[in-house]
Amino acid sequence: MSEGLVTVSYIGATILFILTLGGLSDQETARKGNIYGMIGMTIAILATVFGPEVSSNFHIIIITMLIGGSIGMVLARKVQMTQMPELVAILHSLVGFAAVLVGYVNFVGDSGLMGVEKTIHEVEIYIGVLIGAVTFSGSVIAFGKLSGKIGGSPMLIPGRHWFNLILLIASIWLCIEFVHQAETGGGMTPLIIMTIIALTFGIHMVMAIGGADMPVVISMLNSYSGWAAAATGFMLNNDLLIVVGALVGSSGAILSYIMCRAMNRKFIAVIAGGFGTEPAAVPSGDDEIQGEVNPIETEEFTDLLLDAKEVMIIPGYGMAVAQAQHTVFEMTKKLREKGINVRFGIHPVAGRMPGHMNVLLAEARVPYDIVFEMDEVNEDFPNVDITVVIGANDIVNPSALEDPSSPIAGMPVLECWKSTTTVVLKRSMATGYAGVQNPLFFKDNTRMYFGDAKESLDAVLKQIS
Ligand code: TAP
Repeated sequence: MSEGLVTVSYIGATILFILTLGGLSDQETARKGNIYGMIGMTIAILATVFGPEVSSNFHIIIITMLIGGSIGMVLARKVQMTQMPELVAILHSLVGFAAVLVGYVNFVGDSGLMGVEKTIHEVEIYIGVLIGAVTFSGSVIAFGKLSGKIGGSPMLIPGRHWFNLILLIASIWLCIEFVHQAETGGGMTPLIIMTIIALTFGIHMVMAIGGADMPVVISMLNSYSGWAAAATGFMLNNDLLIVVGALVGSSGAILSYIMCRAMNRKFIAVIAGGFGTEPAAVPSGDDEIQGEVNPIETEEFTDLLLDAKEVMIIPGYGMAVAQAQHTVFEMTKKLREKGINVRFGIHPVAGRMPGHMNVLLAEARVPYDIVFEMDEVNEDFPNVDITVVIGANDIVNPSALEDPSSPIAGMPVLECWKSTTTVVLKRSMATGYAGVQNPLFFKDNTRMYFGDAKESLDAVLKQIS
């Protein structure tokens, strides 16, 4: 394949990858987005393997691709939806590992460059290995935590931010030393020491993070893996890898930022590691009973639903725990058949991973056109007759807006208390992820329906039927 054809293929693949990201931003177009990505990646692989850079040993490339592809296919077929973050974590670790290997191979090989260009190339190698090693060890630990092989509680060593700072300063000093020694043919020692430091930083960063915060870490490591790929692209002088790495790196960073904003956390605190340990560590102090709650029984709840014209369902982590999504859909179907307008309001951080609720609702075949994002429905609550909160807590907590001293102050929430009646389905008065009590439960127009979400909804469904 000529160089010109490779360039055209790379441009085509880049456009397809951009379309992929566009497609993935909406659940209705996500499938199409994935297909664009697959076509783009096929073009990218063919153009690279048959391009001028590779002139022999095709059989080795094809055999390794077949082995890697088969392993990937088996894993993807086997993985449960709930294990998705683990799979993503381990795949990120491979990107990081590849960046480290490419860096070392590039350093050992002769680049043929001289002067400033050689220095720039060495800095590229150094940065590539650094980001790759952090991504690798961080992702391996993330995998261990998510799969329960490593304990979920955060490991907080005293002075951990100072420790991180020392590692950062040492890495900068080693970079100067590396470039200096490389001028006279050396440099391997500082490169190896930096790799060990970067591996340590990756381990320390993720070990300091509590189990429930791992989804944010995954999106952050996703971003790191993108930058590692971009750095590899610089080392290999491969434009497509630079562009794709930058796309992954920036989209991962944007996702992390969106999640942090939706959880009212500081982005920098996430990048520095140890994010989210504070909320878990702070004793709630807030969970004393704040008044009387108003329980509701199945019959009355069913009557309220059947008398309503506008119903809003807010699913949360508890719906995932109870695996109640199928019953939710059955109930929705029955109510819609009776002419009741049922919609879903989804908070950006409902559940424990980005898009958690959307995935569950899609699995239960809830139509996309009745599933709305928080901003699309928040103004509508005064027109809603009954809001059904299914295993959600923090995302419907009014104190986020009303109490500046609340640990979740400033977090945007679904303002369901503005609807005529809110029925909350949960098992007890226990707090949610943030560990704070929810004044919603004590409001006059809130009714508590205690029990496992699936069992409760099964009972309601039976009544409706
Ligand atoms: P939470 O605030 O964690 O509340 C979930 C509620 O579900 C709990 O209060 C629990 O109360 C109830 N529950 C648990 N099992 C249940 C079951 N089987 N049946 C019925 N109810 C059940 O969840 P949320 O409202 O979805 O908010 C998400 C929280 O997680 C936010 O604080 C967010 O910042 C955080 N977070 C989100 C993400 C992402 S990316 N989504 C990542 C990390 C952290 P009972 O025990 O009384 O039943």
